[in-house]
Amino acid sequence: MNVLLINGSPRKNGATAKILAEIEHRLTEHIQANCELVNISELDLEFCRGCSGCYRTGACFIPDNAENLSGKIARADIVVFGSPTYVSGISGQMKTFVDRGHFVIEQLLTDTYTLSVVTYENADGSSAAGILEKLCIFSGAVHCGNITARVSPGQNPLAVRRIEKKVAAAVKRLSRAALRRKKRNLVQAIIHSAVFNIGIKPFILKKPDAYTGVLEHWKKRGIGGVSV
Ligand SMILES: Cc1cc2nc3c(=O)[nH]c(=O)nc-3n(C[C@H](O)[C@H](O)[C@H](O)COP(=O)(O)O)c2cc1C
Repeated sequence: MNVLLINGSPRKNGATAKILAEIEHRLTEHIQANCELVNISELDLEFCRGCSGCYRTGACFIPDNAENLSGKIARADIVVFGSPTYVSGISGQMKTFVDRGHFVIEQLLTDTYTLSVVTYENADGSSAAGILEKLCIFSGAVHCGNITARVSPGQNPLAVRRIEKKVAAAVKRLSRAALRRKKRNLVQAIIHSAVFNIGIKPFILKKPDAYTGVLEHWKKRGIGGVSV
């Protein structure tokens, strides 16, 4: 299975990175995993310019690393998103990539098993985790949970028994779901169906010429009953 781990922290050896490395290690004990870890901070990545050109063309015109990472996500069986909590939300690095990744409109995470990891120091780790969870569910993933880890400055999160247990349980859940090709649970299925069938699909089919790029992606992946 192709596993992609995405670190949204600017610290390549920080708390989030340590948990992602542990997840990578543990996943290889449960499944035959071909893992890749990407540090967003190492990428050449500009802000979204809001031109909406990608909806028509299917790809962003900015010649940086965003499309390459979106391609890796589309090919992955499992994606693990990691971010520190910054001002009650996700890091700027992660947000910049999410804005560029056409996640929700293209349903980029269709048939993908996801997990999110959020570290924090004092408060609001669950707010940041909620942002990543929504991103995954709205983009069509089978979301297998969030790990929120409260970490003191300089502390190794894996030295905290409670965090280590959370990581072990989440990896078990994620690998079991992926191996058994589990479907979304009922709550996720209802939320996703409302977002896609009431929100996104009618909106796009009303103006197909403005969304030819999106429709091509849907056709390729058999999304929304649009066939090749
Ligand atoms: C700009 C900035 C904003 C932060 N905002 C919060 C916050 O709102 N709540 C919190 O509990 N911790 C906050 N923190 C602390 C980090 O979330 C915490 O140290 C995290 O574990 C760092 O992860 P890393 O080592 O992977 O970078 C903030 C840190 C920075 C640098």
